Amino acid sequence: MISPADMLQARILIVDDQEANVSLLEQMLRNAGYVSIASTRNPYEVCELHRMNRYGLILLDLEMPGMDGFQVMEGLKEIETDGYLPVLVITAQPGHKLRALKAGAKDFVSKPFDLAEVLLRVHNMLEVRLLHLEIKRLFDQLVVDDALLQNEFSERKQIEEALHRTQAQLSLHAGQLEEQVAERTSELAATNKELEASVSFIRKANEENQALFFESNIMRGQLSQLTRQIIMAQEDLRKEISHELHDGVVQTLIGINIELSALRKGAVVDVHTMKKIGYTQRLVEKSVIEVHRFARELRPAVLDDLGLIPALHAYIKSLAEREKVKIQMTAFGGVEALGDDERTVLFRVAQEALTNVARHARATEIKMNISKISGAIRMEISDNGRSFLVEKIVSAKNPKRLGLVGMKERVEMVGGSLTIESERGKGTTVRVEIPFIVKEIPV
Ligand SMILES: Nc1ncnc2c1ncn2[C@@H]1O[C@H](COP(=O)(O)OP(=O)(O)OP(=O)(O)O)[C@@H](O)[C@H]1O
Ligand SMILES: [Mg+2]
Repeated sequence: MISPADMLQARILIVDDQEANVSLLEQMLRNAGYVSIASTRNPYEVCELHRMNRYGLILLDLEMPGMDGFQVMEGLKEIETDGYLPVLVITAQPGHKLRALKAGAKDFVSKPFDLAEVLLRVHNMLEVRLLHLEIKRLFDQLVVDDALLQNEFSERKQIEEALHRTQAQLSLHAGQLEEQVAERTSELAATNKELEASVSFIRKANEENQALFFESNIMRGQLSQLTRQIIMAQEDLRKEISHELHDGVVQTLIGINIELSALRKGAVVDVHTMKKIGYTQRLVEKSVIEVHRFARELRPAVLDDLGLIPALHAYIKSLAEREKVKIQMTAFGGVEALGDDERTVLFRVAQEALTNVARHARATEIKMNISKISGAIRMEISDNGRSFLVEKIVSAKNPKRLGLVGMKERVEMVGGSLTIESERGKGTTVRVEIPFIVKEIPV
């Protein structure tokens, strides 16, 4: 607890009016190892010195001129408010010893000094003093700890009270909560059931939809196949009717005209009948021209006999004559290497596109170009007439008009693609691309 070093560090004040006593005591203490020694011969200074330095021990002479040791002790009591005076009195009067102890001194030494006794008493007093200080420190510490504990205790108490209150509230709510949970659980169970029913309904609807989608895909394929068959059958029929008209009907009409001519020359008929025959001849000639045109429209023989480009030239020529529109055409000659079906498709698309311009566009100019691009033949027909909303017409659910739809069908039938662009102020462009792979000729 208290080490010898603590003892030797203790501050000591020697108070004596006799110089010799002061020196003797100081010397003795230093020899014993004490290092912090002060002295005064003036009793009036003692209180102030102690106030500043708080000595562990004051060796106090009782008989001093002006202010004796008892008065000094009274002054010291005002500084040491806890009543402990670290005073060891020095006296030559045996009667003073008891009085000094009563006045607050802790011990005494007699003059003349017995040095060993003085050192023993100094040592004991310092030990008691230091122990006293240690006890005080521990006590103060205890007070502080106690205050902290008290604090903690009161905080704990508050927390416990709050806890109790909360528990009471919680148990109150728990009942209500249980009720609500039960209610909510039954609601959720009902909703879950509804959801399950909806999910299974949706799943069933989905399956039905998928089946329908699948079926509609098959039907679309069948429809497309059917359309192609119709187009091809139509094409064959047109060809047949066209031949029939050309070779049958036209020949018959020509025969009638020859007969009429013979009738005019050989028979004796009146002027009126002559005129009627002439009129009928002109009618028959007109019919021949009409039937020719009709046969050409149906299926121009030139398409089969001479090829696509001459057939288009012939068609353009007759259209330009009828419609008073300027038509320019440029074409890649290699297009004739396309198969019959592909060339027929190009002819029909051109025929429909040109007819559309004539019927709807009020154009003054048409440009037609057939060219070779990478892996395909491209045909473009552009006019400078009125524009129209392509998307609206092409994607109409129940198209009343079949021209554009038919064009698309025909083009897709031979693996090609069709695009139509129509822009205000610029006119319309119909573009067809049909696959065309030039076969390499073996060397
Ligand atoms: N070059 C064009 N310029 C302006 N409008 C056009 C042109 N081509 C088509 N159209 C518009 O698109 C519509 C649909 O054309 P589509 O060829 O399908 O039918 P249609 O020519 O009216 O009748 P049809 O079934 O006899 O061909 C036309 O009615 C017309 O309004
Ligand atoms: Mg049309």
